[in-house]
Amino acid sequence: MEEIVVLSIGGSLINDGKVSVEMASYIASILKSSKKKMGIVVGGGKEARLKVKEILKSGKNQFYADLEAIKVTRKNADLLRKVLGKEAGNKIFDDFLEACKMIKKQKYVLMGGTIPGITTDTDAALLAEALYAKRLVNVSKSAIYSKNPEEKDAIKYDYLTFEELIALAQREDQRRAGTNFIFDILASKIIARSKIETHFIDGTNPHDFLNAIEGKKHNGTIVSSSKK
Ligand code: UTP
Repeated sequence: MEEIVVLSIGGSLINDGKVSVEMASYIASILKSSKKKMGIVVGGGKEARLKVKEILKSGKNQFYADLEAIKVTRKNADLLRKVLGKEAGNKIFDDFLEACKMIKKQKYVLMGGTIPGITTDTDAALLAEALYAKRLVNVSKSAIYSKNPEEKDAIKYDYLTFEELIALAQREDQRRAGTNFIFDILASKIIARSKIETHFIDGTNPHDFLNAIEGKKHNGTIVSSSKK
């Protein structure tokens, strides 16, 4: 079976208030330099967070705020799809099995969010399961650290087990809203149950970005069944 890699592209990378054509072009140039087939899920970024605030302020509940945020994720994904060109097909999928079907015909399949109540990390973990992906690459602005990487004594983890990731995600989940951990608890549990090796990298470093896609050494964090 051909090796498929799934990517979760953090919204913060591509949308810092509005979707960035420049960042989408940079991301596309990295993806195009690999021959691998890819399932790609794109996040919402700042625009989605602002949208959620606006909808909640209007009196609607979280479900409807999530629906609006999902629209932003799909818009971000659609910009990346357009920049990738013909090999990315002509739609953003909201159905995992349809994406699985189309990966046979396209080099890339793109998704944004799917249903309220989850995040695109979880969508990416589910897509990785559905595609029997070889690995998942979480592309954000950092690896995984013991605490906020801006704090001096923060330690970067080179390797973590699935259980350690779940423990970290759980610890962060209990904190105040707004102090988001790099990968949510549900996504962490999904990669653990299917033992999907997951790489966390700073996507602004093009070498780390491509190396993670190719399964080569990088400066991020690798989460798997056992430490290497
Ligand atoms: P993200 O996955 O981008 O959320 O989805 P995030 O955790 O804030 O990610 P980053 O750190 O900016 O990349 C944005 C929002 O879209 C809705 C949720 O409201 C989520 O917070 N969403 C996303 C869903 O409701 N369902 C989905 O499947 C995906």
